[in-house]
Amino acid sequence: MEAELEGLPEPAWPVGFRALPWEDRLARAHAEVLAAAFTGSPDVLLFPSLGSIEGALGLLRDLSLRPNFLPRSTWIVEGPEGPCGSVQGVEERARLGAIQNLGVAPRWREVGLGKALLLQALRGMWEAGLERASLEVSASNGQALRLYQGLGFKRSRVLYKAASFQPAGGGEGGAIP
Ligand SMILES: CC(C)(COP(=O)(O)OP(=O)(O)OC[C@H]1O[C@@H](n2cnc3c(N)ncnc32)[C@H](O)[C@@H]1OP(=O)(O)O)[C@@H](O)C(=O)NCCC(=O)NCCS
Repeated sequence: MEAELEGLPEPAWPVGFRALPWEDRLARAHAEVLAAAFTGSPDVLLFPSLGSIEGALGLLRDLSLRPNFLPRSTWIVEGPEGPCGSVQGVEERARLGAIQNLGVAPRWREVGLGKALLLQALRGMWEAGLERASLEVSASNGQALRLYQGLGFKRSRVLYKAASFQPAGGGEGGAIP
């Protein structure tokens, strides 16, 4: 999905929550939040490393070393009980940013944190001189789709990806073509 960055509203943080910018020392906190958020999400089938803390940590470390990493589009939310939301961004190509992973821990959903986090990351892209943002989301992820569509994201491409899964009774995993 893609959206224009110009004219987006400022992020509105619910009382008691604040966003902290990216620092290396926060990598594990980001990873813990992402693993909590993505476990059970349809998108963990597409990005299995987000389903565990160590997997998410490896992904974050790789991302933060990439030359196109956007620290100002990478934020963690701190709430009354600690970190509870995370988002990362990269510059995909000239004037186009890409949101990487947006997740809010289940206990803190539907109070506006996902929307505020996304707007914070998009504002960072705009401040970095980018004009548009893209992201990938599973077509079955209704909550995320409503959030993105509400901020003006429109479908730009449909990708078909193989997803690995673990059958309910255990045993060998397989691939959905
Ligand atoms: C998607 C996700 C980040 C949304 O976070 P959130 O903090 O609950 O979202 P918000 O409270 O800011 O809600 C923002 C909008 O999303 C939509 N939304 C969120 N939860 C919803 C629900 N259960 N039912 C319907 N709409 C919902 C609404 O349109 C809402 O806008 P509104 O408040 O103007 O009505 C969160 O559900 C999540 O972490 N999911 C698991 C990880 C994931 O799938 N991430 C996206 C993959 S790219």
